[in-house]
Amino acid sequence: MKSLLALCAVQVTRYETLACRALASLPRELYPALFRAAFMNGRTLVLQALVQTWPFPCLSFRQLLPQPQQMGWPEKPRKESVQAVILALLAAPRRKPHLRVLDMTGFLDASCGQDPTTMSMWARSVAVARTCLSAQTQARAAQRLAKRRKLEPQVPVASPVEVHTDLLVNRTSYSVLKEALLTSTCGPLRLRCRDLWAEELSGPSTVALLELLDPVCLRQIDLRFNNLGLSGLCMVVPHMAKFTHLLSLKLQYSNVDVRRLTTEAEGSFQHFVSAVGQLKCLKELNMGSSRLSGRLHQLLSGLQGPLESLELPFCALLSGDLSYLAQSPHATHLKKLDLSGNKLSGDLLGPFQKLLREASASLLCLDVTECQLMDVHLVSTLPTLCSCTHLRYIGLYGNPISSAGLKTLLQHLQALPELQLVVHPVPVDCYKDLPWPPSSASLLEGTVDEEKLASVQAELQQLIDTIQRRDVLWTMDIYGHNSFDYFSL
Ligand SMILES: *[C@@H]1O[C@H](CO)[C@@H](O)[C@H](O)[C@H]1NC(C)=O
Repeated sequence: MKSLLALCAVQVTRYETLACRALASLPRELYPALFRAAFMNGRTLVLQALVQTWPFPCLSFRQLLPQPQQMGWPEKPRKESVQAVILALLAAPRRKPHLRVLDMTGFLDASCGQDPTTMSMWARSVAVARTCLSAQTQARAAQRLAKRRKLEPQVPVASPVEVHTDLLVNRTSYSVLKEALLTSTCGPLRLRCRDLWAEELSGPSTVALLELLDPVCLRQIDLRFNNLGLSGLCMVVPHMAKFTHLLSLKLQYSNVDVRRLTTEAEGSFQHFVSAVGQLKCLKELNMGSSRLSGRLHQLLSGLQGPLESLELPFCALLSGDLSYLAQSPHATHLKKLDLSGNKLSGDLLGPFQKLLREASASLLCLDVTECQLMDVHLVSTLPTLCSCTHLRYIGLYGNPISSAGLKTLLQHLQALPELQLVVHPVPVDCYKDLPWPPSSASLLEGTVDEEKLASVQAELQQLIDTIQRRDVLWTMDIYGHNSFDYFSL
């Protein structure tokens, strides 16, 4: 429900020209409410005026804007609102000296990649970069003009504004981002990156970018689809040690395979391991799709502290890897564990269950998508799973589990009072002609008996009603649930 203040703010900002004129005579206490109303309803003129006359040192999206699920607000803020705030920065440093920090981090990042009415993280990164460059050009022009008129020979850059933002960069936006970061060491707008996501960048390009980032602000580095290989990672990761607050490192699809290494590659692996060991406060590591068979011990034992989030999907783990993990200091600190795509049904099952027991007091999110778990494995894991009493999320998609297995799981939900989401597979008894044992491919591509599935889903729903757990979202949709990001746990 909106407060009376919020309702009034919506009305005031509807009449944009009037509102802009009235700003000067309004008490500054009203700015946050007006900003919220203008932003959420796309009142771009008011927004620009608000940013340009912002009476406080900091303007933070996270503090000012409602959480997406909050009642009474449009689902997602519009693209034009974000653009208006960014463009307003061009005038902000000249007109009003109050604003020092615009913090655009941590907002709109979840699930707005595809929606054309909101601004994607990629587009926002480009817009912020272009604005930094334009601000610099403006400032230079102003200086030249001053010089020609024989005013102050050097007009000092009037108190720069720090722009805290998350950046997503790929090859298309690489140059503009790089130039903006270069400029922002001395320009009127100073980019401060919190989370850096780099897609498909080469090793040297990634290093060049890292060199330009502020060492204190960076919290996460996510290098995806870069195909760097061990030699590329050895080039890049040593440049990360200067980021004193780096909590999260994600290296998905880096094309690393430590099975059967040459002597030279063996040296590279050790180099990589020691470079990761230099990251002093690392709490989250994602090595998705790196073949780490038998080497997890080597990789993780060099870390300076325990991890809280470990994502090892499709890493071809062996039972020794999970046995190591279960008795390592990481186990009892894990809030998030992703073992998707590792075959947990065979000799990994015992070590996996031991790991769950160790992690039971801390674990909030467990992803075991496509792990070849059948009813028998699920049932034997249930006691340990139920000891993880803080679990909020279980990912079980792509496992050959039957509707009977799912019902057994449902009946155990009472032990998991904090559970919010279960992504379950299509039950194996709802396929037409499934080969047995089914491969992951046949589970993903097999023909589903829709009628059977609908009736099983109705039964499951009834069971959920009976045990009064309608608070748990029980779904087969594997997309659109990125709210279990490590930093939001
Ligand atoms: C970079 O990302 C943007 C936005 O998603 C896309 O339009 C562009 O094609 C990408 N560039 C490359 C080289 O993949």
